[in-house]
This record gives sequence, structure tokens and C-alpha cells, in this order.
Amino acid sequence: MRFEAKTGHAAEQKTACLILPVYSSGTLPASTKNANAATGGLIANLLEEGDIEGKIGDALLVKPPRNGNLNLRCGRILLIGCGDRKNFGRKQYRKAVHVAFGALRKTRLKDAVCFLNGEAARGTDAYRRARIAVEVWHHGVYRYTTTKPSGKTPAIAQTTLGLTAKPAQARQIRLGIRHGDATGQGMTVSRELGNLPANLCTPGHLVTEARRIARGHARLRVEVLTETDMKKHGMGALLSVTAGTVEPARLIVLRYDGAAKSRKPVALVGKGVTFDSGGISLKPGAAMDEMKFDMCGAATVLGVFKAMTLLQPRLNLVGVIPACENLPSGKATKPGDVVTAMSGKTIEILNTDAEGRLILADALTYAQKFKPELIIDMATLTGACLVALGRHRSGLLSNSDKLANALIRAGDAADDPAWRLPLDEEYKALLKSNFADLPNIGGRDAGTITAGAFLSEFVGEHDWAHLDIAGTAWLTGDRKGSTGRPIPLLIEYLLNRH
Ligand code: BES
Ligand code: MN
Ligand code: ZN
Repeated sequence: MRFEAKTGHAAEQKTACLILPVYSSGTLPASTKNANAATGGLIANLLEEGDIEGKIGDALLVKPPRNGNLNLRCGRILLIGCGDRKNFGRKQYRKAVHVAFGALRKTRLKDAVCFLNGEAARGTDAYRRARIAVEVWHHGVYRYTTTKPSGKTPAIAQTTLGLTAKPAQARQIRLGIRHGDATGQGMTVSRELGNLPANLCTPGHLVTEARRIARGHARLRVEVLTETDMKKHGMGALLSVTAGTVEPARLIVLRYDGAAKSRKPVALVGKGVTFDSGGISLKPGAAMDEMKFDMCGAATVLGVFKAMTLLQPRLNLVGVIPACENLPSGKATKPGDVVTAMSGKTIEILNTDAEGRLILADALTYAQKFKPELIIDMATLTGACLVALGRHRSGLLSNSDKLANALIRAGDAADDPAWRLPLDEEYKALLKSNFADLPNIGGRDAGTITAGAFLSEFVGEHDWAHLDIAGTAWLTGDRKGSTGRPIPLLIEYLLNRH
């Protein structure tokens, strides 16, 4: 799919399909008015006669009549309801493009020019509208088919999607397209990895995927640590989680060098538990299949690096992915076992189901080898985060107000929001063990915060933020599947930094 910025009036667009906004009041926006005039009042007539009301969610495909007096250059017109013009904001815009692109795909027409993004939507400039449109396109076109060939739809015939722009906005629109395309492709990488079942998406598969992303990109390198390497580095926390499984663990390091060597990198660390059974502290059976999504932090890191290969920004980025399974067996770690993390701290493992923080502890320590300016980790870390924030906002914990604020702002701007939770000393005090420096769980209270407090013990003096994506990385129920979050938040943050 190619995305293009298009200038010019609706009637001038030579395209198979013209996508035009209509509002429920019946007054036509400029672009639609232009096409209406060129069709001898066809659109106004359709609204008057109730063929389309103009509500959000409405779509109507029409074939403009061909006769000598009409000078429209498109094959079809797709009218899209945008609701009440006064209330047309970011969310309504998103919904309208979603409906438009869904309807467009059904038509199987080869190309289209979309005028929806030419409409002023409150709180959203032309750059953002283009970016959202392209992200929505990618999101809508993705289907999981790898192990469900029957879900395959015939290849989509579309080749170009034009997004309209006033000449003065063309540059912003092109930038929005570029950023939206990279974000969308990154999210698709992440969603596919999340959706893959755990028998296919193993730590080894994440390695393969990391190498595939890096192939052909001189600025991107991948290094992989085996369990032997982990032993050499003293990664006792990570090794304790993988102890019960047959599938070998891996620690994947990705490095994108887009700026001078002297510039410190941003480090992204992603939890890559490819299946979390809970280990000896076995989880209940209900919905345990969803623990194949416990590598969505890792998938986020890979998706962000995919986006970096497309955007080539001037920044240095390190990705660290601890990848393993958490399974029970005769070799598995037992509650009460004490292990020594790479940092030297000892940990009493009181619950083997609190494994994410263990693998992250060593990954966070390892990430510091790259002398990062700051560290951000992403993890499907606690069920408690779902209780606190549901599935709308990711949890954010940080030792830096500056970093936390920047991430919150980025999440809001990208429609991928997060919410900060506190990390006072009083919470850290909930982590007490009689037999080690730290236990791996607090009590029942404040589960997301005590998990964050545990991680904070492994970041040294670095500015660090932790995103708990347990509620946001995938959907359950009928729409069960990976969301690609929090890639939009992270791309937004990284692009704003330079
Ligand atoms: N991967 C889970 C967290 C999770 C659970 C995410 C359900 C999404 C839905 C994590 O490894 C885990 O099991 N956490 C425990 C921690 C507890 C033992 C302190 C949890 O949340 O129950
Ligand atoms: Mn667990
Ligand atoms: Zn887990």
C-alpha cells in the first residue's frame, strides 16, 4: 500500500473512489460541496432523501451517473458520516476513517482519495490526522492467519491511498504519513508475534524475528546471549525462571545507531515470557491460554525497532529482551528458593508466578552496560494493573518526573494513554524478606506498585520508567488478540526527543 499527499479539489481527483465526509446536519463541508456541484447535486439529494443520515458509523457507496454535463473524475463516491460537526473531534475522526477504510476494502477498488483528513477535528492538526489515518489503515488490514488459513481474505487490491492536503500542509501530511506508516508496520510486527501460539513463538522465534528485522540495515545489529552466556554474567534471576522448561532461554540485544557514538542511547527493555504457566505456583486453568501474550513487552521492543528501520531517526537505541518460558517441572524453581541476580542482590522467590520482574531484573542490569541516558521497560507484569486501570490506560511507574511526564504526554498525543502510579519509599518497604535482600512479591496490596518497586531496585541511578501493559497489550473475548500497544506511545516519545 502506498500513501500519498494529494492537493486539489474533490472534483479534480482522478481515482477509483473518492471518500467524502457528510455531517448529520446536512450542511456539506467544502470538499463534499465541490463534488456535489460536479454531480448536479447528487450528494445533497442522497442526504435529503435519507439514503445516508451522516451519523458516525454511516457509509454509503454510490456510483455517480455518467453524463455529458458532469465532470467528476472518480469511479465511485464513498460518503462517510461524521456526526455532528460541532462535536467532531479526534475520536470521531478516528472512527470515521476506520469505517471509511473498512468500507473501502470491501469494494476492492484499486485506489482511493480520502477527504476526511481535510476536516478540522478538535485537538488534531493536519499532521496528526494523516498519521492517524495511516495507522488506522494498517490496523484494519491486519488479519491473523498464520495458524488459521481459513481466515485469509483474498489479497487486498488497493495500491494507493491519497490523503488530501492544502498545498501549505503537504509537508506535514507527508510527515504524518511517514510516521503513521512506520508506527503501523511496527504494530503489525508486534501484533503478529503476540498472536502466535506459544508452541511457535518461542524465545528462539523471537531471535529469528529480531534478525529478520535487522537484515539489510547497517545501523541495526542483533546479539544473542545463550544460557551459557547468562551463567557467565551471573543472571541467576533470569535463569531461575527458565529452570523448569526444555525450551532454551535467550537474551536478545538490538542496537540501532542513528546518531554519533558519543550520544548515550535510550534503552528499551521488554518482558519476553513466551508462555507463563505460573511455574510451581501454577496459575488456574481459566484463560491460561492468554499467557501466550506474556511476551508482548518483547514484541513491543521488536516493533519499535522495525519502525526505526523505516524512520532512521538520529538517535541511538538499545533493546534488551529477556526471553524464556515459565513452566513447572522437577527442575523448576520452588517457592522459597533464593537466587542471586546479576546485580549481586539476592532474591527470595516466594511466588514463581511473579517471574516477569525476575527476568527484567537481570535485563535491566544488563542494559546498564550500554551506559544509557534512560531506560524504559515494557511488561505484561501484573494482573493488579488490570484491576486498577482496566484496558484503557497502561500503568506507568518511574523514578523521574521528567521522563514520566514526557511519556504521559506522548501517550495522550498518540491515543495510546498511560497513567502514573506512585513509587513512594513506603511502598518499597513492603518488600521485606528474612532470607534474602528482596522477596519477589509484596503482599496483596498495591500489586502493580510493589512490582515496580522491585524493578526500581535494579536500575541503579538511571532515569527509568516502567510501563505495565497487562491490560493494554491484548484484548480478550470475541476480539481476543494483540493490540500493538504501547508502540504508538513509544514512537511518539522517541520522535519528540530529537
Ligand atoms: N504475566 C502475569 C501478569 C498478568 C496476569 C498479566 C493476568 C495479564 C493478565 C505475571 O507474570 C503474573 O503472573 N503476575 C502475578 C504476580 C503475583 C504473583 C504477585 C499476578 O499478577 O497475579
Ligand atoms: Mn506470572
Ligand atoms: Zn508473566
